Amino acid sequence: MNDKKTIFSGIQPTGCITLGNYLGALKNWVNLQNDYNCIFSVVDLHSITVRQDSAQLRKRCMDFLTQYLACGIDGEENIVFFQSHVPAHSELAWVLNCFTYMGELSRMTQFKDKSSKHADNINAGLFTYPVLMAADILLYQTDLVPVGIDQKQHLELARDIAIRFNGVFGDVFKVPEGYIPKEAARIMSLQDPTSKMSKSDPNVNGFISILDDPDTIRRKFKRAVTDSEGEIAFREGKHGVNNLLNIYSAVTNQSVEKSVNEFSGLGYGELKERVAQAVIEELRPMQERYADLCKNKDYINKLYTEGAQRAAYLASKTLRKVHRKLGYVDR
Ligand code: TRP
Repeated sequence: MNDKKTIFSGIQPTGCITLGNYLGALKNWVNLQNDYNCIFSVVDLHSITVRQDSAQLRKRCMDFLTQYLACGIDGEENIVFFQSHVPAHSELAWVLNCFTYMGELSRMTQFKDKSSKHADNINAGLFTYPVLMAADILLYQTDLVPVGIDQKQHLELARDIAIRFNGVFGDVFKVPEGYIPKEAARIMSLQDPTSKMSKSDPNVNGFISILDDPDTIRRKFKRAVTDSEGEIAFREGKHGVNNLLNIYSAVTNQSVEKSVNEFSGLGYGELKERVAQAVIEELRPMQERYADLCKNKDYINKLYTEGAQRAAYLASKTLRKVHRKLGYVDR
């Protein structure tokens, strides 16, 4: 092993990877991947807290992993794998369940959210989901966890669990830090710009899939909700316009201020067209790589198989330590 620090992150294979995931997560992963040992997982165990169609899930898992690679993640230098291929995640989650309080889990806003959305299926997995996420992170002695702001609470719980466990057994887990990028951490829905762009939004006009073709992207931006003021400015209350300016700035790697200047005097129609064009250009190379990779299933298969082996090796070291501390007889 080298002396680089370790990063772990993952995306749940539900819906499709959106521009929000791309700007808020994937693009950062790509930027960080040379300076850290990175472990990126398609967290398929997490996705069944909500009912999934099995055939669709299998396809989506493959699509997600392929998109990680298409975005520029180097699956040879770094580790990409499916969470369900490394049983240590489930094993550590069980142990950590016994070090997490019901009260802590009841305070998780995502649990409250999801249980109100899926009132007919408030299963125990939905409740203990943050414990599995803590296991994901702690298994790899992770230093840094790049996530969106909506995962901050889960990350803090992971830290609390690590500190609690270490308090009883000594230094077993590294206590991870979050890495929550300021810009573009929160790309909002195009249809309801007061809520996050969600990959499981039933309204497809609310999000841009990173695999959307240029016409679809243009059409979705054209329909984006703005306001009736007609002035391109970034300020409190102008949720729709702010969102478009945020997207444009993130894609062009420039400050929001600069974007506002660039658009001064123009109308919303022009703004939407230019944002759409910038997004199309940003996604084009990724989409081309995606099409190529889809023809190369053997290569992808090799990457995730080896990825799981390498991940399992690292995870087994932590799990063995945990089991010894708990008093389990060596395997
Ligand atoms: N819970 C995260 C989300 O919904 C996904 C996730 C699962 C994750 N395990 C993780 C993210 C570990 C970072 C690290 O976005």
